[in-house]
Amino acid sequence: MAIHDRQSKSAHARALSKTEGVWNFGSGIQAVTPVSRVSEEVYKEHGLTAYKKGQGITPGHSNTAGVLYPVFDPGAQIFKCFGCHSTGGLDFQPASGIQPKELGVRCESCHGQGGDHVARPSKFNIFQPRNLNGDGLNDFCGNCHRQPPKEGEDTNWSDPWNVRHQPVYLSQSQCFQKSAGKLTCLTCHDPHGARPTRNACADCHASPKHRTVKTGSCTSCHMKAVKPSQYLTFTNHWIR
Ligand code: HEC
Ligand code: HEC
Ligand code: HEC
Ligand code: HEC
Ligand code: HEC
Ligand code: HEC
Repeated sequence: MAIHDRQSKSAHARALSKTEGVWNFGSGIQAVTPVSRVSEEVYKEHGLTAYKKGQGITPGHSNTAGVLYPVFDPGAQIFKCFGCHSTGGLDFQPASGIQPKELGVRCESCHGQGGDHVARPSKFNIFQPRNLNGDGLNDFCGNCHRQPPKEGEDTNWSDPWNVRHQPVYLSQSQCFQKSAGKLTCLTCHDPHGARPTRNACADCHASPKHRTVKTGSCTSCHMKAVKPSQYLTFTNHWIR
């Protein structure tokens, strides 16, 4: 099926892999950070990350020694890493360590359990995220990409690292707030594709005052790229 083929190449599907006992977090579109098990109850996030533009220190680290994550820390941090980068739940056994059911963000991460649907295919027994409106998709994709701030929650808008939380930023846009739920992540992205974006500005802004600019470049001024480090670039989803 076409979606399977396309999806297996997508960044979502490639968000986690394992080679020679080391877990590789990230598809490599921007970065791959290795994580290894250093003892029965401790994992290490390596201090060096392979960025597309070369090796460098891992985000959030202060040196290249790496950061240790005990499996039984109260925040369960290492389980959260595996949780967002894999599908179908995690198993932990002292002998084998953390074992995700499926590597990467695959069908059931977004469409829910599909057992019934496979046995008796019907559109009524599978979750269809497209039925969600803009707020619904911000929350849904925000399960991993971070949800918009709740009432009373603070966001530091001048911290460039926060720009990687697209639902948080999109939710602040006039385009989002004043279009009655019509502007969603899916207006511009195909969650099955590799690096898909569609220029959707003309859907709602048929003739901005400055018509002279080429359509393809709307985002270069209104969704500016932000570089929180020399290695990483994110797109500011607060359209303005
Ligand atoms: C289960 C967690 C999860 C959910 C749910 C999820 N994502 Fe992602 N998404 C990820 C991870 C992890 C990556 C990083 C992939 C990589 O390694 O590059 C990612 C990457 C992406 C990318 C970037 C690919 C690129 O071009 O760099 C886009 C776009 C994206 N997600 C959109 C969405 C949209 C839209 C939704 C909701 C329909 C969604 N995601 C839901 C976890 C998730
Ligand atoms: C709350 C969910 C969540 C947790 C927890 C999480 N990630 Fe991610 N991770 C994401 C999403 C979503 C992206 C894509 C963000 C983007 O590129 O905008 C991502 C991107 C990445 C990337 C870059 C991928 C690329 O191709 O550019 C790496 C590397 C990565 N994560 C490693 C880790 C590691 C290591 C941990 C644990 C220490 C971790 N992540 C914990 C959701 C999560
Ligand atoms: C990151 C989340 C995500 C993942 C992973 C994902 N999907 Fe989807 N899927 C969606 C969303 C969101 C839509 C609605 C897309 C739209 O309407 O633009 C969708 C739509 C679909 C549709 C309806 C398409 C159509 O054109 O009517 C099918 C079928 C589908 N997905 C199958 C799959 C299969 C099979 C996989 C795994 C190979 C998969 N999806 C993985 C989020 C996801
Ligand atoms: C679903 C419809 C929709 C889409 C798609 C959309 N916008 Fe908007 N946009 C709006 C609405 C509605 C407003 C508010 C207009 C008003 O208040 O008069 C707005 C406002 C704006 C503003 C003014 C923002 C401010 O803070 O003053 C800019 C700039 C803008 N849009 C640019 C864009 C660009 C560039 C794109 C494509 C990346 C885009 N829009 C896509 C609906 C949309
Ligand atoms: C108005 C169009 C538009 C909407 C709506 C939109 N995006 Fe994007 N997104 C873009 C563009 C443009 C890029 C940059 C694409 C590129 O560099 O290939 C991008 C890039 C991304 C990336 C790659 C990392 C980055 O920051 O550059 C992720 C992840 C992502 N979007 C997730 C989302 C999610 C989740 C939503 C819904 C909350 C969303 N986007 C809504 C246009 C949009
Ligand atoms: C070279 C930078 C640049 C590019 C490219 C650009 N804009 Fe703008 N845009 C601006 C600036 C600056 C303003 C605010 C000043 C003004 O109102 O003219 C603005 C204002 C706007 C507004 C709000 C005012 C209005 O016209 O109603 C919208 C909507 C908008 N742009 C849409 C777009 C769209 C759609 C595209 C792509 C076709 C685009 N812009 C390309 C710089 C740019």
